[in-house]
Amino acid sequence: MKYRVPMTIESAEDFTAPADQSEMTEVITSTGSEWWRTAVIYQIYPRSFASSNGDGIGDLPGITSRLHSLSELGVDAVWLSPFFRSPQKDAGYDVSDYCDVDPMFGTLADFDTMVSTAHDLGLKVIVDMVPNHTSDQHVWFQEALAAPEGSPERDRYMFHDGKGPNGDIAPNNWESVFGGPMWERTTNPDGTPGQWYLHIFDVSQPDLNWENPWVREQFFGILRFWLDRGVDGFRVDVAHGMIKEEGLPDYTPPVEGASMGGTAAVGTDVDPDIVEAIQETPYWGHSGVHEIWREWNAVLAEYEGDRVMAAEAWVDPLEKMALWVRPDEFSQAFNFGYMFTEWTAATMRSIVDESIAAFSSVGAPSTWVLSNHDVVRHATRLALHVDVPQGAGIGPMTKGKPDTAEGLRRARAATSLMLSLPGSAYLYQGEELGLPEDMDLPDSARQDPTWFRTNHEKYGRDGCRVPIPWEADKPSYGFGPSAKSWLPQPADWGPYARDAQEGVAGSTLELYRSALALRAEHNLGSGTVEWIDGYGPDVLALRNGAVTVIVNFGAVAVELPLDDLLLASDGIVGGALPADTAVWLRS
Ligand code: NOJ
Repeated sequence: MKYRVPMTIESAEDFTAPADQSEMTEVITSTGSEWWRTAVIYQIYPRSFASSNGDGIGDLPGITSRLHSLSELGVDAVWLSPFFRSPQKDAGYDVSDYCDVDPMFGTLADFDTMVSTAHDLGLKVIVDMVPNHTSDQHVWFQEALAAPEGSPERDRYMFHDGKGPNGDIAPNNWESVFGGPMWERTTNPDGTPGQWYLHIFDVSQPDLNWENPWVREQFFGILRFWLDRGVDGFRVDVAHGMIKEEGLPDYTPPVEGASMGGTAAVGTDVDPDIVEAIQETPYWGHSGVHEIWREWNAVLAEYEGDRVMAAEAWVDPLEKMALWVRPDEFSQAFNFGYMFTEWTAATMRSIVDESIAAFSSVGAPSTWVLSNHDVVRHATRLALHVDVPQGAGIGPMTKGKPDTAEGLRRARAATSLMLSLPGSAYLYQGEELGLPEDMDLPDSARQDPTWFRTNHEKYGRDGCRVPIPWEADKPSYGFGPSAKSWLPQPADWGPYARDAQEGVAGSTLELYRSALALRAEHNLGSGTVEWIDGYGPDVLALRNGAVTVIVNFGAVAVELPLDDLLLASDGIVGGALPADTAVWLRS
């Protein structure tokens, strides 16, 4: 299938998607030449990347000291998860001051040094903006609590009266993403029970009221603060949650996994009625958000150069997601449908087709992602034989625990496929080392609010957040200068350490390096996908310009002519492509 989009879309209103895209003949995956359309963006989770002072928590000087390893890896940009002032109730996604660095991570001067070092190395820097909610310790919220009902301070957040004669029933039945009710009752200064406030996530993360112009105005200033410091753009947290349905009607999610918007269900065999119901969630994907993104887009446009705005928006279906990346809104959006696609040739092919069709229909690049700090690492997830809802994590008692070797084999093949696709790809720190999910964290070490708010029913996301190994023989595997690590590192992670893989033929690190170098050399990011049929139902084959990619999703090797081999995700013996293996050949 081939798609065409106009080259001169100025705004969303100028563009109507063609009714039957299958009739299109010219292939254009995205319009424009901005760097982010083809970039490979590496996610740094600051607390787990590198610690400069040995306190067991990663920091900005630690990041700066390791940036050269990322430019050597061959990525184009780094995205840093939040490092702002925060009580750290949700690992920094609970911000108490958007314009300062938390002392745990360093100072604003450390940030400036990090940005200039990155820029000197040719790396762009993207920071995480968290506008849906603040920390309950933010001065805006503290002032709101101290102010009377109906005051302008209260109107910054979502305060409502409770139901029932004494107001002691929550305003509606919504459940927090992390478990438990989405409402918390306040206590008035005189000790009497007060209004309730809404928190989609933890009780310490009150939702802002984005219908209030004052809130919008504050964020223009916050964006400019970081743009003035030289950042190349923003990843926007919970971009699909900011506007809630009028009247805040009761709602019960029809399926587990719907918590972030239901995208976890994509790619699996889910009843379309359920998917439909997820889309109607009164707090996700409301069309009122588009106005906000147009305003933000205009702020970024005040600055010279190409700044990126990437949406974390769990929205289905992809056609709806595409509305978020119209020319005057976000630059791109995470493709969570791709992330959760089953490991089969047919499902992979259709999600790639659907993604390119949906995103290119508005002139945006497709994005691709396999891991991040909220999901089970793909070196584990791809061999998991049970359904685990997004964010729930896995632990010692999870049934169907995956085979590590199978997981790694599939992960290497999946990444090889992903990096061959046109558009922009996201990597999550540690995946270039083949790191699996830590499935054996002791319960006493867990920190994710999900674990606490579900009364220990869901493990949460700590297993993908363990500090990464740099040097096999050093304390904390070189994560910092001491043995300390805020989550314990598994005793058997030595072989995953970066120095154990550097220069070692066949290591996962060298596979990533080669794939990234070949991707750049052959301009695969701005290329096109042409499917090649005829290899059987378990094999996916595509041509992207000078590179042909063949992936065997099946359990048995497939006889193939494997001449002109550029890259293999695993060892190739003779003329056969083994199970769970991908190759790149010269076309
Ligand atoms: C999405 C972030 O990726 C996640 O880590 C966080 O807990 C929630 N948003 C709330 O900010």
